[in-house]
Amino acid sequence: MSTVKEIPLVEQASELWTAVNAVRRRGGTVGLVPTMGYLHEGHGSLVARSAAENDLTVVSIFVNPLQFAEGEDHGTYPRDLDRDREMSAGAGAGLVFAPCTEEMYPQAPITSVAVKGLNAVLEGRYRPTHFDGVTTVVAKLFSLLGPGRAYFGEKDYQQLAIIRRMASDLSLPVEVVGCPTVREPDGLAMSSRNVYLSADERPAATVLWRSLQAGRDAVVEGSRNPDEVEAVMAAVLAAEPKASPDYTAVVDAATLDRPDVLDGELRLLVAARIGRARLIDNMGVSCDRI
Ligand code: PAF
Repeated sequence: MSTVKEIPLVEQASELWTAVNAVRRRGGTVGLVPTMGYLHEGHGSLVARSAAENDLTVVSIFVNPLQFAEGEDHGTYPRDLDRDREMSAGAGAGLVFAPCTEEMYPQAPITSVAVKGLNAVLEGRYRPTHFDGVTTVVAKLFSLLGPGRAYFGEKDYQQLAIIRRMASDLSLPVEVVGCPTVREPDGLAMSSRNVYLSADERPAATVLWRSLQAGRDAVVEGSRNPDEVEAVMAAVLAAEPKASPDYTAVVDAATLDRPDVLDGELRLLVAARIGRARLIDNMGVSCDRI
């Protein structure tokens, strides 16, 4: 274990278990904030929430190869461990767990956790192997650490829904806590991948937020037709020449099913590419059947 920037850095799973168990043996609670590093204020809010609710907060930093497909950005994903340690400590974490790939996967895993159905819709249509990689590594982090609570951002809404379902289906003894998206002043959702945006692409990236707002307005103004709401959102994306849209969607907030008639708690979701960056965003909206 090395201690720089006033926060212990643990790279080995056995050492992690020892550190976490010492807290648990004293009756303390442990919160986990799983990340791929290159932390921003959104991660900071998860760490702060965990620190407020647990005796020890562990931030894991691991760019998980299992959740990247061939040709995606695993090799170029931004990394800055020193800054991440500083941010984690500043937000109230007590330990950073940053294993190397060999530590996490000493042998190529032939076991995979798949939340079937939910892993194939929305993002799953564009990244068919992505969520199985996410659930496999998150399940592994849960067993390496045994956190009482784990914190995930609503920014990755489908990921949050899938992890909740995994924890419920497998009776994992962990509370999965969803935390609100943190946004830049112009509405862009904070994301480590925003760093891929060039200076002239950056203003265009607000189109996701504008598309969500337009969708919400359509629902609030009385539309109960999902085709209509998705078309309103798509028109906003189409009007931005720098954006190549992947999808606009309106789904039931709990099940991610697409309703025939909009009713109750809904989630609007968008995905688009802007230059090198593939961005996703979402927003909740509630409505009553007219
Ligand atoms: O949201 C992320 O950063 C990743 O998908 C996660 C949950 C840390 C798993 O690698």
